[in-house]
Amino acid sequence: MTVAKLKVAVLISGRGSNLQALIDACAAADYPAEIVLVVSNVPNAQGLARAKAASLRMAIVDHRNYTSRDSFDEAVDAMLKEAGAEFICLAGFMRILGDAFVRKWEGRMINIHPSLLPAFKGTHVHEQAIAAGVKVSGCTVHYVIPALDSGPIIAQEKVPVLAGDTPETLAARVLEAEHKTYPTALKWIAEGKVRFEQGRAVLTGD
Ligand code: GRF
Repeated sequence: MTVAKLKVAVLISGRGSNLQALIDACAAADYPAEIVLVVSNVPNAQGLARAKAASLRMAIVDHRNYTSRDSFDEAVDAMLKEAGAEFICLAGFMRILGDAFVRKWEGRMINIHPSLLPAFKGTHVHEQAIAAGVKVSGCTVHYVIPALDSGPIIAQEKVPVLAGDTPETLAARVLEAEHKTYPTALKWIAEGKVRFEQGRAVLTGD
């Protein structure tokens, strides 16, 4: 029996290494999700080359062409609808999405963040971790809610912070964990093992 795969759109702004991890996961016949669209708000984002190499449908929605956040969000939403996307993965997407868009996709949009949330939200995450002197950092996959980097946590993986780490060496170690955690979290969701219920991520055995 062929089971329908979850139709996912990936939103990017840059390098796209997490997009690549999702592309690689989706290449497996038994992976329960497929990428139906890659959206970038940055016209020359490196991730677009990865989408092209994988023959994925792509859309550039350059935020500089929109006079308001809502009109940008509406343009993205129209692309998602046209591509038949059922679910959104933010992967290094550097635009804040408006509340109306976030509410519309509530429970159907996730993000990956390079720290163990709720520690170190926002930007310069690895600088924050090193400055705080933590011995453990990592990554978090969470549902997106209007408050930045604050949605219900689906999955986390920890990595050590080593003596002498720079933001770059720590980022590289965390990124390796991201590339495993993001496809795993999406798989759980597509299999129905994680659900968004009353503002929480509910994990079930099977
Ligand atoms: C990752 O560290 C991700 O956690 C953060 O932005 C970075 C994006 O990297 N949100 P890439 O574009 O996926 O390579």
